[in-house]
Order: sequence, then C-alpha cells, then structure tokens
Amino acid sequence: MSLKEEIRDSIKRPQHVAIIMDGNGRWAKKKGYIRSIGHENGVDALRNIATASAEANIKYLTVYAFSSENWNRPKAEVKALMSILVSSLKKELKTLQDNKIRLRAIGDSLSLPHNCQRELAEVMELTKDNDHMTLTLALSYGSREEIKLAVQKLAREVAAGERTVESIDEEVISKALYTDFLPDPDLLIRTSDEYRISNYLLWQIAYSELYFTPKLWPDFGAEDFYEAILSYMNRERRFGKTTEQIKSLS
Ligand code: IPE
Ligand code: IPE
Ligand code: MG
Repeated sequence: MSLKEEIRDSIKRPQHVAIIMDGNGRWAKKKGYIRSIGHENGVDALRNIATASAEANIKYLTVYAFSSENWNRPKAEVKALMSILVSSLKKELKTLQDNKIRLRAIGDSLSLPHNCQRELAEVMELTKDNDHMTLTLALSYGSREEIKLAVQKLAREVAAGERTVESIDEEVISKALYTDFLPDPDLLIRTSDEYRISNYLLWQIAYSELYFTPKLWPDFGAEDFYEAILSYMNRERRFGKTTEQIKSLS
C-alpha cells in the first residue's frame, strides 16, 4: 500500500493540516535566482501539496501565504508577491475545480490590492460548492491582530447589551476569530529549518502536533507531506491525560 493510501484509509489521519510555507527566498538564493523566482516555485509546491492533500482525504488545509509582518519587506518584493497571487488565482482555478477544493481566505483582506481582492472573491465564489477539501490562504494574516479584532467585537456586543460577560467562553472566542469555519489544526508543519510560529494561528494551535523539516518550501513534495502526516499518525495525543487513560479509551 502506498503512503497516500495508508493515510487515506486511516481513521487516524488529521482532519486539518496547517502549514507555514517558508524558505522560498533561500531556495532562490541557493540557485542564484532573485527571490520572486522562489515565490513562483513556491506556488508550484502549493499546487502539489493541495492536490496531495485532497487525494489523501484531508478535509482542511490552511497555508500561511503572507503575514501582516510581511508588509514590511522591500516594496518590490511585496509587489511581486501580490502579482504572483493574482496570476496564480487565475491559473489554479482548474486545479481547484478538478479536485473539488473550496478556496477560502483568512486575514485582513481589505489591505490587499484591489485586483487581489477581486480575484480572490471570484475564485472563492466559483469554488464555494466544492466539498471535498477546503484550502484556506492566510493572507495579510496575523494572529494577534485576529485576536484583537475578536476581543473588540465581543466587547462591543457586551457594551451594546447583546451578550453578558459570562457568556464569553472558549467556544465563543473561537467563533469570533477569522477561522470560525475551521476546526483547530491537528498538525502544523513548518519548512526551512525554522523553529518558530511567526504569529500564525496562536489560539488555534493550542494542542496541535508540530512538525519541522529542513526542506525549503519549493522542494517540499507530496512524499515529504505524507511523511509528516505519518509522523503525526504515530504520535499519541494525550490532551493532558496519561497514556493509560488514552489506552483504556481506545
Ligand atoms: C516564505 O518564504 C514566503 C513568504 C514569507 C511570503 P520566504 O520569503 O520567507 O523565504 P526565506 O525565509 O527568506 O528563505
Ligand atoms: C512566515 O514566514 C510567513 C509566511 C510563511 C507567509 P516569514 O519568513 O515571514 O517568518 P519570519 O519573519 O522569518 O519569522
Ligand atoms: Mg522566511
């Protein structure tokens, strides 16, 4: 049985995988290219992983494509990234439709250039009935900003007398985040030998399993992805309990 089939047929496979796609710049530099070539190759890697994910019956894939902090990069790089985003959205519609993938986005979408917003809205609308997998792009996304907005929203509701302070529980907070339509990630993967979270899904990854790999994102392929998932499937998630308690439940 191939790794893909093993994952597809297992009840232990993750429902939601989140990825920090890192290392495009270093990949380009190593090859003597400019950074934007790395980002273009990063799109190819994302297409492979999204397809691999759909084929292994993973329900949710959420990828960090552009952080709130990435706005501080040189203007030319930000411009190149936005233009790659627009052209990829146009080009990849067929891949999304063929694999029945619904596209969604989280982040401060209003800060994106207008043509990005338009293209994104169009692809989201065209794929909204696809129910095999949801691919969520974190775009102009920052977790602290997301939490700040949620706190403001709930505080406003309290001030308006629409809810009580006591009604604010973990469920309510989760539903006030950009990710209200997603379960928490089971597995978080970061490529390129970096060991940090970079303001990604801070609330949501409270109990996610973490997987770090030295592969640079453009080199990260389906087999690497499946290996990460297999590593996840071989772990014991205890959620604060003891091994004995977990064993007696299964
Ligand atoms: C990840 O690759 C893509 C984005 C952050 C947009 P990087 O551009 O961060 O690549 P490195 O980390 O410089 O190699
Ligand atoms: C995180 O990567 C953001 C994305 C992958 C889009 P960065 O390369 O921006 O992260 P830091 O700044 O090195 O932590
Ligand atoms: Mg980086």
